[in-house]
Amino acid sequence: MSRRPVLPGTTSADGRPATLGVMGGGQLGRMFVQAAQRMGYLTAVLDPDPTSPAGLVSPYHIQADYLDEQGLAQLMQRSSAITTEFENVPAAALVTLGAQRPVAPAADAVAICQDRAMEKAQFARCGVPCAPHAVIETAEQLEAVPEALLPGILKTSRLGYDGKGQIRVADRAELTAAWQTLKQAPCVLEALLPLEREISVVLARNAQGDIVNFPVQENMHRDGILAITQVPPPNVPQSIQDQAVQAARELASSLGYVGVLCVEFFVLSDGRLMANEMAPRPHNSGHYTIDACDVSQFDLQVRTLAGLPLVQPTLLAPAVMINLLGDVWFDEAGTARTPPWAQVLALPGVHLHLYGKVSARRGRKMGHITVTAADGAAARAMALQVCECLGLPGF
Ligand SMILES: Nc1ncnc2c1ncn2[C@@H]1O[C@H](COP(=O)(O)OP(=O)(O)O)[C@@H](O)[C@H]1O
Ligand SMILES: [Mg+2]
Repeated sequence: MSRRPVLPGTTSADGRPATLGVMGGGQLGRMFVQAAQRMGYLTAVLDPDPTSPAGLVSPYHIQADYLDEQGLAQLMQRSSAITTEFENVPAAALVTLGAQRPVAPAADAVAICQDRAMEKAQFARCGVPCAPHAVIETAEQLEAVPEALLPGILKTSRLGYDGKGQIRVADRAELTAAWQTLKQAPCVLEALLPLEREISVVLARNAQGDIVNFPVQENMHRDGILAITQVPPPNVPQSIQDQAVQAARELASSLGYVGVLCVEFFVLSDGRLMANEMAPRPHNSGHYTIDACDVSQFDLQVRTLAGLPLVQPTLLAPAVMINLLGDVWFDEAGTARTPPWAQVLALPGVHLHLYGKVSARRGRKMGHITVTAADGAAARAMALQVCECLGLPGF
């Protein structure tokens, strides 16, 4: 596909500005659409849900399944270039689209990030350490698992997210039971690592091979779901941050990746760095970039897709990002409520983002808050006040 830039606001033959398309209508798609629109693009979203967060804010919303041929044809007809916002978009759909339009990221890179076994093989090819692991696709492979991988975490190779599709196992008996629970799907068993911290790197790479990256952020999870991101990372030595950035860049290059990529890492209690997983898209841990950087991860997604120049992002202010799960929409007694936004918004440095989801469920990502301040300590102090207002635990 030609990589001629899709310039913003360009008037096409029928008088419309250029349109950028996105597969998937979740919150990541919504924030992509908002970034694209700010630059003067029209947007098209393909998502079957009539109330999808991105569909609600896009002039074109094609309500079709991701493999629906007519839907894909309409998306291609509308869009000058197409990206994806969720990891599990079928690679086959991206192949179809890629035959006729620039698609970023490309199907083959997405396919690797969709499969934990392939992803770990990619880490190995790049010399990036990751958890000791074994691929389990057959009963023989299950039997042959080395003792050193227990206790461990059994993860489905595909379609897991937010801690779903994974089970902690203490011994062989639990491992066998867990594989049954996961319906004997292809899995990876990882040794349970002593984690000191979790960090991630979000970067953007263009077709010419230029890479720019955001600073390293430190992430805290609760129940397998990202809860808090802090940047700069308060507890991570610079040398580890440099290693993480270097590894993420190498991975992006080795994939010939075009688009925004996030690499999650563990910092172990002995100080070693290990790659965890990659997301072929903007990432929850990069949401702070909207309010705290001069260009956001979604701006860079637009730029890589449209073939526009990349610039190295600058962190303008230390930030803490607080994820808002549906739990916040219920009080202590379990009664539905509207969270106390007026109280939260009275605090300085608070940036509220709600994704327009119609109903709140526990564990569902409804929005996030980024707190910016003059220094990291002030951002943390204010973020703790936000948590208190919302009845969230501290960090
Ligand atoms: N090998 C491991 N050792 C210790 N903790 C782990 C390991 N793998 C995952 N975890 C914990 O579980 C979380 C979710 O796992 P991850 O592989 O990132 O799956 P997901 O796709 O759900 O994000 C991680 O952020 C980390 O807190
Ligand atoms: Mg993860």
